[in-house]
Amino acid sequence: MKKKVSLVFVIASLSYGYEPSGVLKGYLEELKVEAKKENKEFKDFDNNRGKEIFFTKKIVDGKEISCVTCHSNNLRTSGINSKTNKVIEPLSPSVNKTRLTDLKEMEKWLKRNFNDVYKREGTAQEKGDVLTFIYKN
Ligand code: HEC
Repeated sequence: MKKKVSLVFVIASLSYGYEPSGVLKGYLEELKVEAKKENKEFKDFDNNRGKEIFFTKKIVDGKEISCVTCHSNNLRTSGINSKTNKVIEPLSPSVNKTRLTDLKEMEKWLKRNFNDVYKREGTAQEKGDVLTFIYKN
């Protein structure tokens, strides 16, 4: 009996994959409201737009930089901070349970990291798109 229950649990978790944390869901809802204000055409956040934000290369101070520079091109592996050479743990919550669970942490780093690459803050839509890409991959 016990075995059956745990088997059902394993199958259920395999088929549903990662479930966004309550904090992340709440943040995405908040960003959605803002994104609608920014753009009347806005419908929902998009994995592919998020991916593009993550991989787009910019030239900052004569050097090529993107989100990939520090976080690597695979969300499930660790990256290296190009400024400090310190290891950065994987961004994907599917392999790193602490990811995208703390609102202040997400806001602080999105603000700082968008500035690093795009020399401006991200819009609500961009933040939601890139968070969607990170939690789905
Ligand atoms: C110069 C290096 C660097 C670049 C470029 C960079 N990041 Fe980061 N990022 C970091 C560091 C350092 C942290 C904080 C350390 C940690 O969380 O392990 C971080 C943290 C984050 C977090 C917080 C994760 C959490 O659990 O709350 C998100 C989200 C994030 N980055 C997204 C991005 C996105 C999107 C881009 C591109 C626009 C980007 N980063 C570009 C270095 C970088």
